[in-house]
Amino acid sequence: MDKSQKAKKKIRIIGNVFRVILTIIMVIGIIVMASTALMGITILFIPADILPEDLNAGFTDFIAGVHSSSDDDDEDDDYSPILSDTESAPPVITNSEDAEAYFKKMIKELIGSIGNGRVASGIEIGLSTAGVRKELTIKELIVILSIAISLFSLMIVIYSSVLNSMMKTLSKGERPFTIKAAKKLRRLSILMLLLILFEPLTSLVLFSVTLIFSYLFEYGAYLQEKADETSRIQEEMIMSFAEVTENKSEQTGKHVRRVAEYSKIIAEEMGLDDERVSKIRLASTMHDIGKLMIPSEILEKPARLTDDEFAEIKKHPGYGGKLLNNVEGDVMELAKTIALDHHERVDGRGYPEGKSGNYISTEGRIVAVADVYDALTSKRSYKEPWDHQKAYEEILKGSGTQFDADVVEAFKKRYDDINSLRQKYADEAE
Ligand SMILES: [Fe+2]
Ligand SMILES: [Fe+2]
Repeated sequence: MDKSQKAKKKIRIIGNVFRVILTIIMVIGIIVMASTALMGITILFIPADILPEDLNAGFTDFIAGVHSSSDDDDEDDDYSPILSDTESAPPVITNSEDAEAYFKKMIKELIGSIGNGRVASGIEIGLSTAGVRKELTIKELIVILSIAISLFSLMIVIYSSVLNSMMKTLSKGERPFTIKAAKKLRRLSILMLLLILFEPLTSLVLFSVTLIFSYLFEYGAYLQEKADETSRIQEEMIMSFAEVTENKSEQTGKHVRRVAEYSKIIAEEMGLDDERVSKIRLASTMHDIGKLMIPSEILEKPARLTDDEFAEIKKHPGYGGKLLNNVEGDVMELAKTIALDHHERVDGRGYPEGKSGNYISTEGRIVAVADVYDALTSKRSYKEPWDHQKAYEEILKGSGTQFDADVVEAFKKRYDDINSLRQKYADEAE
């Protein structure tokens, strides 16, 4: 498992853990939202004259109980001038009016503590200015409280569901930084501003954090686009290089393409991860790039090569390595490795360095099989193409000596695919 695969696995695990947490928050939010909304609606429909008496009767004992055990409550009186008015020494509850007043005070404090004391105060100021009455009734206060909690829960549900969908993208291994995600976050940040009436601090924090994230995502999307463009240009350059090499060398037509496709299939079968597979496919197209440095008379010679000429040909991996030496980027780095290693043999009798076994890169060992199979099944200036079955057997024969046994095993397992690709990308002349 290479670095990027490990990182992806970690992200997937973290993403899934967050999704579970966010789902729990969402479910709790939905329950709270539904129950408070239901409470608000129920209370709204209870006739006004029933409520206070019933509540007073029921709560008198309760309030008396709360009283004896609390020497407290000085929280959040800064939210509303009305609330701070009610702050005083614990009243002695002797009758239902005292109980009602105290109950009202408690609800107001509760409203104040979740931040929507302003709404209640505002309405009370409005009412008294209009000369209707001075204070809100218990019923109205409870309804405001229910609306506030319900709205707050709704925002939390929306917030966690958006985060959840982003985590889903992450854990699926898709790119999180998209313009679409940035826009989603911006809409979400505006929605968070609605909370300002009920909970100004939370609202502003959620608004700013979400807005900052939306800009980060937008910047991420921009960088991603740049990176994509760079790799697209890199890919185009690589293909042009490969074409030049093909034209220069004796190889007709689609050798480079076929070697790339065969290498990809073998790499897949060997269990390399997707990213590495696509890199091998691209980088392998440059395996013979060093042939650009070999004189055309040698490359195109229609007869057997002399020892000297063959010695010159054998330099092409080294030339390739040099040509690609100063180019940066993952794919180019791999292309260099493949150019250097594709004529090495696992028994150490290859060239240019005579590396053996695992000293040869995995990618080099894969391309070696793909390259030889294609050379055997293709026409050359000095030979006719071999029958594919004969070439297949030749590769199997070389397992453990010329070729890596695992690579040959993968080649054998996927031979049907390799053979049909050979037919698909056959040279026109054949
Ligand atoms: Fe080569
Ligand atoms: Fe080749």
